[in-house]
Amino acid sequence: MRETTLAIIKPEAVKRGLAGDILKRIQGAGLALRALRLVGLSRAQAEAFYDVHRERPFYRSLCEYMISGPVVVAALEGEGAIARWRELMGATDPAQAAPGTIRKDFGIDIEQNAVHGSDSAATAAREVPFFFSALDLVG
Ligand code: CMP
Repeated sequence: MRETTLAIIKPEAVKRGLAGDILKRIQGAGLALRALRLVGLSRAQAEAFYDVHRERPFYRSLCEYMISGPVVVAALEGEGAIARWRELMGATDPAQAAPGTIRKDFGIDIEQNAVHGSDSAATAAREVPFFFSALDLVG
């Protein structure tokens, strides 16, 4: 099934100049870029985006981190794109991520884990429109 999912390249990865490498891996895996943008999240936007984690102990720190510098957001499309992007990313904690995954290769710790991806179709349906309108999606 063709799907669209959201990717975020997080602040520490953008700061370290890794956005190009990460986008190359995405396109090399056959996922198509439908939209791409550099965004400086406001605190309110970060809090709203991660609202599902509001009660988790790491929520405040995660929101602080996500506003610490620009992020790159992208809408990715392809056959089974949601699962394929999650496979490319690897496990949330870089220490647990499989060799060759983005989080293993570029993540620093469980918070500064280089990238975010939608975890289900329902999440993608909320997260893609959070950043992109229908007009922004090319192709
Ligand atoms: P992400 O895929 O963006 O979804 C939620 C984020 O919370 C996660 O990646 C991490 O950056 C961050 N986080 C920090 N601590 C934890 C934790 N203990 N478990 C899960 N996510 C965490």
